[in-house]
Amino acid sequence: MGGLGVIILAAGQGKRMRSATPKVLHLLGGKPLLSHVLDACAGLDPDRVLVVVGHGVDRIREACPGVDPACWVMQREQLGTGHAARCAADALGDFSGDVLILNGDVPLVAGRTLSRMLAAHRSAGRDLTLAVAALADPSGYGRVLRGPGGDIVGVVEERDASDAERAVREINVGLYLASAGFLRAALAALDNRNDQGEYYLPDIAAYGAGREARIGSVTIDDPREFRGVNGREELAWMEKALQKDVNRKWMERGVTLKDPDSTYIDAGVTIGEDTVIGPNSHLLGKTVVGARCRIDGSAYLTNARLADGVHLRFSVVMDDCDLEDGVSVGPFAHLRPGTVLERDVHIGNFVEVKNSSVGEGTKASHLSYIGDTDLGRESNIGAGTITCNYDGFAKHRTTIGDRVQVGSDTQLVAPVAVGDDAYIGAGSTITKDVPAGALALSRAPQRHVDGWVDGYRARKRKA
Ligand code: UD1
Ligand code: CA
Repeated sequence: MGGLGVIILAAGQGKRMRSATPKVLHLLGGKPLLSHVLDACAGLDPDRVLVVVGHGVDRIREACPGVDPACWVMQREQLGTGHAARCAADALGDFSGDVLILNGDVPLVAGRTLSRMLAAHRSAGRDLTLAVAALADPSGYGRVLRGPGGDIVGVVEERDASDAERAVREINVGLYLASAGFLRAALAALDNRNDQGEYYLPDIAAYGAGREARIGSVTIDDPREFRGVNGREELAWMEKALQKDVNRKWMERGVTLKDPDSTYIDAGVTIGEDTVIGPNSHLLGKTVVGARCRIDGSAYLTNARLADGVHLRFSVVMDDCDLEDGVSVGPFAHLRPGTVLERDVHIGNFVEVKNSSVGEGTKASHLSYIGDTDLGRESNIGAGTITCNYDGFAKHRTTIGDRVQVGSDTQLVAPVAVGDDAYIGAGSTITKDVPAGALALSRAPQRHVDGWVDGYRARKRKA
């Protein structure tokens, strides 16, 4: 038994996507289509992996930084899937094992399906194994043609098919296993006499059938696994199918999803047991949610790290933040990159925090902006407090100590520091450092004009 080579075809532009982005870079579950295919193959532990690229090659390489640079094979002109496979077969040199070829736009094929295909191919000692599926509506796919004995005799693309061939409901999934020797010979023999004038990879089946090669098939039943993404509608269908799988997995692991249909969890996310997630929640990127958290609903979390027992009330947007145990946030709060909230911090409604650390037990309950700030423990930030961090040229930091009381409607003009245990009177504009334990007040003193109202009204009535 020889080794295994993998070829992924990803050089096409994906015209039907009508997109400036190469098709294989469109995201599914937050991950490019191509990465899904690469991950599915990784479990087979192949000796070589080659990815055929052409359209948007620079962007594709950039989006897949983990891929060994030696994997990329250039197909300068997109002359068809057969031509793409030939470019890669050339790069395989005199490799003599089996070669698995996958369409880069069939993203949800499972690793275990590939293993099953490999086992069937090897145990039957075949030259070629095709993955096939039976569809009620096969439109758009290549149809598998079989002879009277049921042997595969070829594949015909829909646009080249006769009416009778179109009626065939067995489709070519776009997943092929071939022995390297057979593949090289078959690819060398391809022609482009078809409606598109392209070299078609599925034509290797007809080549083999004509030479009595051993050809077989494996059937894939699950539509999620065999559907290709050609346009946006298929992409949305896949997204929905993936969402269902991912959500089911998290529910099995002890997470309550109140409305799985409106819960979106990216592939890179993890969630702890007994966490409850309300409707319209998006957990994206590398978000980590601990155990016993409550996310009430309408949350949009990207790369957020929530420890255990965190409570996000309705409508919270978060990007690149760290929240320790017992933190509560919202409703209607915005935590931007670089926010670190220590244990039991409370961030309330209409509060924005950016690039700031907030010490244990500190509260900012209403209507505040805390930017570029180091905030101590057990302090209270009054309603309407603003850190004025930007002078039109640079950002400056505000430092606030432990047990500080910042009165409502305070502005802290950075750079500025407030010492431990200080009090700031409501309505102050703080431009100078406040010593520890001091009261700082910057507002004008209040005065009263006794009896002023009677005189005022009398003057008005006369006029
Ligand atoms: C292909 C199959 C069809 C099958 C279907 C399954 C051919 C001719 N047809 O059709 O039988 O039912 O997939 O989804 O193969 N590519 C290149 N270089 C090229 C052309 C394409 O790398 O010159 C890549 C594309 O980027 C894509 C893959 O090959 O990832 C398939 O190409 P696509 O044009 O989508 O083929 P389909 O028409 O879907
Ligand atoms: Ca396709």
